[in-house]
Amino acid sequence: MDLPPDLAAALDAAASDLPLRELEASAERLITRYRTPGRADRPILAGRADAVAYAAYRMPATWAAVSAVLDAVAERLPAFAPRSLVDVGGGTGAAAWAASEAFESLKEILILDQVGEALELGRRLAGDAFSGALRHAEWRQARFPGEIPGADLATVSYVLSELSPTDQEALVRAAAAAAETIAVVEPGTPDGYQRILAARDVLIALGLRVVAPCPHSAACPLAGTRDWCHFAARIHRSPLHRRLKGGDLGHEDEKFSYVVATRAPMPAGAPSRILRHPQIRKGLVMMQLCEPQGTTAQVLVSKRQGDVYRAARDAEWGDVWPPTAPPASPDQSRT
Ligand SMILES: C[S@@+](CC[C@H](N)C(=O)[O-])C[C@H]1O[C@@H](n2cnc3c(N)ncnc32)[C@H](O)[C@@H]1O
Repeated sequence: MDLPPDLAAALDAAASDLPLRELEASAERLITRYRTPGRADRPILAGRADAVAYAAYRMPATWAAVSAVLDAVAERLPAFAPRSLVDVGGGTGAAAWAASEAFESLKEILILDQVGEALELGRRLAGDAFSGALRHAEWRQARFPGEIPGADLATVSYVLSELSPTDQEALVRAAAAAAETIAVVEPGTPDGYQRILAARDVLIALGLRVVAPCPHSAACPLAGTRDWCHFAARIHRSPLHRRLKGGDLGHEDEKFSYVVATRAPMPAGAPSRILRHPQIRKGLVMMQLCEPQGTTAQVLVSKRQGDVYRAARDAEWGDVWPPTAPPASPDQSRT
């Protein structure tokens, strides 16, 4: 994925105001802090340089993860057209940018965060956005737990790890009380997955149903195993991004775990979800799936299956399977 050009230009402009050394020092401190997730007693973003460093080195990746999540929502709920978004712990607005691109229906965007400098920067980045909803978004300082204003869609992106387990649950409950559809995104690590599992349990207990990634609202079949449900979004790095991350690669793969749940009616017949990179062998594609009945399965698709095989060769980790209305596939073999 490439950052939207208006966001890429805004990030370059914001970073050009500060000495590179200062940004590098902030980025290094933040990278170390975010590597060890845990409750933050004080805000992690401590001032303008931190906010700019976060936006330059981290926001492209969180934007890519939330974009992938919201694309999965749009695929599963084609009629979903939210008019309002509340981005909880929105920081510099990565999820708001992703949502404004995924849903042109958005008219009102509210970003809530405890750090004034992050909100101030977010407002500035959005100032020249192509999306009118983003340009006119409200950036409001708020500390959680606390009430969240109502909206059609709530995003909680890369926030839970900074809260205690009790506050994580309170935040998910408050988001579910505020919005019909809630998207919670965390790093794609085993502990990020655990926080998503806990959030998923809370949302289901409140009567919501899972939109994605799970094709069911039953217990997660990976819970209690050594595996964890996560996905990846590839983002191309700008020269500034590369410099702040200290790497030569032209891209990075952001791993993320997520759950999206809703009270809205959902179309019947959720397709399976591909849980790993499909393995391609000679004349054979092997996929690990999470299935609508709440189980996982290894599925083999062979060259003899013609169009199904060609679709399997194009399928990627995180996609639904089959990609469109299920084609009859009599000899699809499970292992
Ligand atoms: C890692 S950043 C994620 C920002 C943004 N959502 C994203 O995906 O890029 C976490 C954000 O959550 C905010 N946050 C953490 N705890 C909070 C609290 N108790 N109240 C309000 N905001 C909080 C932080 O200030 C920070 O901006």
